[in-house]
Amino acid sequence: MEKATISVKVLKSELSKVKDNALVIGFFKDKLGLSVELKKLDKDFNNIVSLCIKNSDFKGEKGEVKTIFVNKNIKNIVLVGLGEEEKYSFDVFSSTIADVSKRLRDNSTESFSIHLESFKNSKLNDKETVEKIALSSLMGLYKFTEYKTKGKDKIKNIKGITIITDSNKKFDSQTIYASVVADAVNKTRDLVNTPPNVATPEYVANYAKELAKPTKIKDFRGTSKIKDFAVQKIQEFSRTKNPKDFSVKSNLKCTVFDEKQIAKMKMGCFIGVAQGSINKPRLVVLEYYGAGKIQKPIAIVGKGITFDSGGLNVKPYPFILNMKDDKGGAVAAMHVIEACSKLKLPVNLVVVAPLCENMIDAASYRPDDVLTAYNKMTVEIRNTDAEGRLVLADALAYAAEQYKPQAIIDIATLTGASMIVLGYAGTPFLSNDSKLGDKIKDASAKSLEKVWELPLWQEYEESIKSDVADVKHISDDGDAGVIIGATFLKNFVNDIPWVHIDIGTTVWSKVDKGVLTKGATGATVRLLMEMLREWKN
Ligand code: BES
Ligand code: MN
Ligand code: ZN
Repeated sequence: MEKATISVKVLKSELSKVKDNALVIGFFKDKLGLSVELKKLDKDFNNIVSLCIKNSDFKGEKGEVKTIFVNKNIKNIVLVGLGEEEKYSFDVFSSTIADVSKRLRDNSTESFSIHLESFKNSKLNDKETVEKIALSSLMGLYKFTEYKTKGKDKIKNIKGITIITDSNKKFDSQTIYASVVADAVNKTRDLVNTPPNVATPEYVANYAKELAKPTKIKDFRGTSKIKDFAVQKIQEFSRTKNPKDFSVKSNLKCTVFDEKQIAKMKMGCFIGVAQGSINKPRLVVLEYYGAGKIQKPIAIVGKGITFDSGGLNVKPYPFILNMKDDKGGAVAAMHVIEACSKLKLPVNLVVVAPLCENMIDAASYRPDDVLTAYNKMTVEIRNTDAEGRLVLADALAYAAEQYKPQAIIDIATLTGASMIVLGYAGTPFLSNDSKLGDKIKDASAKSLEKVWELPLWQEYEESIKSDVADVKHISDDGDAGVIIGATFLKNFVNDIPWVHIDIGTTVWSKVDKGVLTKGATGATVRLLMEMLREWKN
């Protein structure tokens, strides 16, 4: 089914000339006076805004929303409280925008305009503000309804968002970036939310192949959520006479290896995990060369367990619930490379995604098994539920050897222990290279995806020494779970600058708040896009 399109545009206009279902205006609690422009608007509407403020019907408290039905060229004026200006930040701003968007949608508003200048202050510049308005509303408005059969006609949708400004600047590159990234986040959410009986390794691999196929322009309209982007593409390829036949050749290359090929490549750890399922494994490799073939690529390796039962060390209820989200790393990586290719970022990228199920079967791998990884290291299995690091071991070693990348980033729902370290608020990461770690931190601040670095001290290596093999994949005591996971993975990256991002907790949201919606979050998509757009080779 084709998805509803939300268009985002920026319009230079006087506030009083806006025609829309709603006009959204932001106010700081300690700065409720009206600007010249707002005074004009106020006058046109019989001083309704100033009266509202004077009578304390609206105080500008953080999260406060006051809708005034005015029923003229603007139907509703929506006053939004931003709290104290001193405490204002991109974070507050982004979640306020997302919450207001949801509220307008739930009140059956089909489109709204939002006044740019009232939401920015000296801390935020207008280009960043435009980008974040677009990204925050598009993310906040996401809903997963694919498997609902009843009441589909009652589902409410916003069709258009107009950002009103008095500036003459062009904001096209900001709205396009925001739409492409929001699309990547929301498509990641869709696929991660897709149930495990549907989203098998084969299904996800076919999905990856689709990403690398030429895109019909009508598909662009359907998925990119912004018309302007499709129009820009048409102009780029204006040689085509008939726009109906128009298709954009993908600059992505996709290779899929099946079980036989994976076995032949001697990925013993990956095969070990996969062998307990009738849904056979796939290894997906996606390549994008945006910086010419000579430049070494950046490798993104994503854990793609389409369902994690725990294997013979089965997960008891309720811990087995939501384990379809165990493919979140692979799915995020696939959409990051797609978004980079759409935006034509000047970087070379390779995504390596091992996809399989961790199941119980007569053929399942066991605790006590010794598996031989792609890089020939032998691994003693202690707990079949620590499967993620095994499929990643082979994928990391493969990426390191085949592509000699300048950096490796792995994204994985690796541990439940990530919950103990940072809770739902942020994502722990670890790195063997401080420069690369700093890039992640910078991207975190700009993307609003919170991360925190944990150490990779040598002391931790002691606890994964094995009596029978080169290494074991977990420690005996379970202490420092996130760090032990990374300590194991470090053996497979050949000392290439590497960062491991553990989204075990942040892949999934229990709440519908701000840019988050219940279910898959699309974690790391914004973060990595922010890092890659700034990447200096
Ligand atoms: N996919 C899980 C991690 C996970 C668990 C993510 C719960 C989100 C919620 C991973 O494969 C796993 O089971 N890890 C084990 C490792 C342990 C056996 C060392 C864990 O964290 O319990
Ligand atoms: Mn597991
Ligand atoms: Zn897992």
